[in-house]
Amino acid sequence: MIAIPTTAGTGSEVTFAAVIKDHDSNMKVSYVSHFFAPNVAILDPNVTLSMPPNITAFTGMDALTHVIESLHSTESTPITDALSAGAIRSINTNLPIAVENGKDVEARGRMLIASCTAGLAFANSLVGIVHGIAHSIGGIAGVPHGLANSIMLPVCMEWNLDHCPEKYAISAHAMGVVPTGNAKADAVAGIQKVRELIAKIGLPTNLSEVGVTADQFEPIADLTMGDGTIYTNPRPVEDPADVVELLKKVF
Ligand SMILES: [Fe+2]
Repeated sequence: MIAIPTTAGTGSEVTFAAVIKDHDSNMKVSYVSHFFAPNVAILDPNVTLSMPPNITAFTGMDALTHVIESLHSTESTPITDALSAGAIRSINTNLPIAVENGKDVEARGRMLIASCTAGLAFANSLVGIVHGIAHSIGGIAGVPHGLANSIMLPVCMEWNLDHCPEKYAISAHAMGVVPTGNAKADAVAGIQKVRELIAKIGLPTNLSEVGVTADQFEPIADLTMGDGTIYTNPRPVEDPADVVELLKKVF
């Protein structure tokens, strides 16, 4: 099996995961198998040059979410942390360039490598609540995966903050925050950097802008409670009311 990614986001060329949408039950179901990993992956930026700016932004934010969630995962290791930090640095620099000018082959190539690096990280550490909620928003409201991740990422980082300030400080430093010696202060500045990146690439930041309605909050929260990704979140996700509160914050 030879995989040639035509977007720079999923990292599927190096992961063991697949997500399939069940349209009858409005669910996105994740599967894991070693048979999903290809024997060879070819990262050729030329096949991503025609990707439109919105898909570039969505998929790039999926890759960023993979590495920030890899950092905060309860299964993270020093090796996945190192992969994550490198990918975050590259995405922060190259995603705005690729969105602005899709023909920039160097930025496209660096995004493919960052997406692949992110895949290597999260395939070994898993993700967390952002993906759990994004899968559910995608299943119930049909919001593209990377866009749902992008909307939920900053607010979920704030919700997790006290459980992993050192991890978010790593992402902050990779995005250019100067270390102060206070991990939590750095982490807060890093969450702001994530918001600045989202603004720079022009993505919506509210669920109401992308077609989610308030009556979908409870079904989204219930679906999230059954999503396997939440079990490696640094702050235990035990109450669907917490998910509803997070959805309200970005409505
Ligand atoms: Fe993802």
